[in-house]
Amino acid sequence: MKIHVRTYGCQMNERDTESVVSMLEVKGHETARDEKEADIVIVNTCSVREKAENKALGKLGLMIATKRDRPGRLVGAMGCMVQRLGERILDRVPGLDFAIGTERHHRLGDVIDRVLAGGGPVVEVEEDRELLEHAEELTGHVAGRPSAFVNILFGCNRGCAYCVVPSVRGRERSRSAESVLAEVAGLAEAGVREVTLLGQSVMSYGRTNEAWGGGHASPNGFTEPLARLLEAVAGVEGIERVRFTSGHASGCTDELVRAMAEVPEVCEHLHLPVQSGSDRILKMMRRGYTADDYRAAVARLRQAMPGMGITTDIIVGFPSETEEEFGETRRFMEEMAFDNAFIFKYSPRPGTPASKWEDDVPAEEKMRRNHVLLEDQDRRGLALNGALVGSAVEVMVEGVSLRNSSRWSGRTRSNKIAVFRPENGLASGDMVDVVVEKAMAQTLYGAIRNVDKGE
Ligand code: SAH
Ligand code: SF4
Ligand code: F3S
Repeated sequence: MKIHVRTYGCQMNERDTESVVSMLEVKGHETARDEKEADIVIVNTCSVREKAENKALGKLGLMIATKRDRPGRLVGAMGCMVQRLGERILDRVPGLDFAIGTERHHRLGDVIDRVLAGGGPVVEVEEDRELLEHAEELTGHVAGRPSAFVNILFGCNRGCAYCVVPSVRGRERSRSAESVLAEVAGLAEAGVREVTLLGQSVMSYGRTNEAWGGGHASPNGFTEPLARLLEAVAGVEGIERVRFTSGHASGCTDELVRAMAEVPEVCEHLHLPVQSGSDRILKMMRRGYTADDYRAAVARLRQAMPGMGITTDIIVGFPSETEEEFGETRRFMEEMAFDNAFIFKYSPRPGTPASKWEDDVPAEEKMRRNHVLLEDQDRRGLALNGALVGSAVEVMVEGVSLRNSSRWSGRTRSNKIAVFRPENGLASGDMVDVVVEKAMAQTLYGAIRNVDKGE
């Protein structure tokens, strides 16, 4: 049958979508590029903010309405909202044929078979203690794409006061280095040149369970699990770029910074969400660091890798956040000179500690704070990128630009989007040097100087 998956949420969800699509293809299903052609439509849901849930619910409602004109069409949900709501998702989405939580994505094929056999909607959300053993089934990537995500750490143990993720992604479990390396080798053979290692708090890799067996010596003398993994993944034949996300200020150890700086394939970019520049708010958020700790982490990173890209996430309007505390965040962002920032309005999530505190910053004030930071970031991004005009940046070619079909695009090592005029014979996965001619807050524009086909 033809399947289409619509994805909301973070890179982990994107990765899960790629995995289930590959898995269903192995089982004999086909991918429908257009949802109109699909016999089975699946919505991969996110719970992180109320708005994210509403989007997924809206989409599910629309898809279920199409069943009237398409008898036999199935509509299902997967991902974090299914995990959060369990059986209750059937009350929220009447007419849903199946729902599968984050712990059981590897069983999607069976669930579809059961639904096709008849007998009403199927919901599966129970925790699967063997999830790690199924990691390999949940691999695979989009054919022809030069970059791929690889899960290295499932779940999250940090328990930030506002965050629903620990309750929908379970306890932290690290995949074995052996299993990660086998997956990366397979990806490289399929033509992948850049991998991004994923975990909600990825620097915790190998800290709650053993990830490395014996017999692997580290050429650089690393002892920490993530540093060793970066080094080993970088060593896989064909892999030219390695990234990992998301970082946490407490995990930026000297050794990890050294691994980033010394392993040539590891890109000079880190997504390091700070959330707030106010120590009182950071403490309420239970982030486990102060603004000074964060400052020190960034100083270590920039000292080892001048010019590296640092991006962040911010929450505005956290319960009891004052105008003065918001001002601290604003000044802190300026001081850190972030290359990019994702700004979110606080959204109370059921079951989290923060949801018991009064959501007392009015919606219009959250909106205003959001706008102020976005404008600041735009100005900052423009200035930072403007400084790159005239210089050459290494770009991995991804393909035709989404915005302008006469241009191609790719990313720099510092994770900036670069748009350029294509040349004959250019292919995705090629490394090119682009001379920057013009810079916007989010994008660099320029011309190719030379091409490396990587053969
Ligand atoms: N694991 C990542 C973040 C995952 S969620 C990390 O800790 O770095 C992505 C971002 O969503 C968070 O960094 C945070 O800025 C935002 N976010 C999470 N919960 C939120 C909530 N309840 N309201 C608003 N934003 C939230
Ligand atoms: Fe959520 Fe905090 Fe874990 Fe990130 S580190 S997923 S914000 S609990
Ligand atoms: Fe959303 Fe789940 Fe990611 S809640 S942010 S899709 S882990």
